[in-house]
Amino acid sequence: MSARIELDAVRKAYPARRSRGGARAETVAVESLSLVVEPGEMLALVGPSGCGKSTTLRMVNRLVEPSSGRVLLDGVDTATLDPVRLRRGIGYVIQDVGLLPHRTVAANVATVPRLLGWDRRRTSERVGAVLELVGLPVGAYGRRFPHELSGGERQRVGVARALATDPPVLLLDEPFGAVDPELRRRLQAELAGILAEIGSTVVLVTHDIDEAVRLGDRVAVLSRGGRLEQVAEPLAVLAHPATARVRDFVGDGASLRMLPLARVERADVTSLGPAGPGIGAADDRAEGVAGLPSVVLGAPLSEAFAALADGVGAGRPPGPGAPSTRAGAGAGPGRVAVTDAAGAVVGTLDADGVLAALRRAADAVSRPASGANEGRADR
Ligand SMILES: Nc1ncnc2c1ncn2[C@@H]1O[C@H](COP(=O)(O)OP(=O)(O)OP(=O)(O)O)[C@@H](O)[C@H]1O
Ligand SMILES: [Mg+2]
Repeated sequence: MSARIELDAVRKAYPARRSRGGARAETVAVESLSLVVEPGEMLALVGPSGCGKSTTLRMVNRLVEPSSGRVLLDGVDTATLDPVRLRRGIGYVIQDVGLLPHRTVAANVATVPRLLGWDRRRTSERVGAVLELVGLPVGAYGRRFPHELSGGERQRVGVARALATDPPVLLLDEPFGAVDPELRRRLQAELAGILAEIGSTVVLVTHDIDEAVRLGDRVAVLSRGGRLEQVAEPLAVLAHPATARVRDFVGDGASLRMLPLARVERADVTSLGPAGPGIGAADDRAEGVAGLPSVVLGAPLSEAFAALADGVGAGRPPGPGAPSTRAGAGAGPGRVAVTDAAGAVVGTLDADGVLAALRRAADAVSRPASGANEGRADR
């Protein structure tokens, strides 16, 4: 179940606090933002602190009322809906978790199912299932209170609570902010799996560009005032930043970040080819790949890169005067074998091949249209 979210020129200005000096300008958190999230899509919303990400998210479930503009859910203007009922249909993970302190973990997760009138049995089955999903078995964690959890565990309870009713729309505001990098990766992978299963439309707010490109089907980069600098698939944002602000936000290492997103394709592989005049015999060719690390066609380029880089580390010259067994030893294998799904070697890939593949992947994604706003328009 999923819904289409459309932001139509939404604006949010917070009124100025009265100050002794007289009138002060209001804070314009979001100036005028138009953006569509397609059903079942995960849109990652990124941008620097204070640029209006949380405000944007909260306008979707009307925790913040837009000053002007419209938010449509499946074409229905949310301003016409009852806000409380609207929110029950939208899973929401807030930046600081917001668990009810006097309720157990299980009761927190059961909040929305109860409000929706689910019976006890269906509720407790679901609570068990979603807690299991986030790695907090109900037997060990269900009866604890939020203050008896670590920050990261609390955050996972927040995610479980948002998932409890398979809502058609999920709003995630920095859902993994308080967890360590390793657990963060695991939770990201788990979340991606869960979301693929339930198919909700998701808006994920994060300041972490790696998280955005790993999880997002598309990435929307905002700058101050909720200005949409670019919205595009992750590779396109990395390969062709639409504006200087996007480039700044993506930062150094855009091409390294592209490696996990691009795949090893046949066109990048130097084929072993049939034996021909002047080319070694089949046995020599087979021997050429024996002992090389291997990757499968379609694997992320990062795997090929890691295999090449591992070779470099493992093959470091043991020291001056150490016997070199083969030409090229000490410089790593220099290539990885590429196999098809059945395990048959189709060729090899070297560092140049990885670069060529990266270029191909970058060329394959659309560049932002030149000029002002076309490149920023939502699709
Ligand atoms: N209730 C409020 N009253 C007045 N100003 C607010 C209010 N909430 C947010 N703002 C201001 O609106 C702007 C956008 O805030 P918002 O919380 O949307 O940013 P954000 O992109 O989520 O930032 P962060 O990454 O730090 O969470 C900021 O300048 C903030 O100070
Ligand atoms: Mg925020």
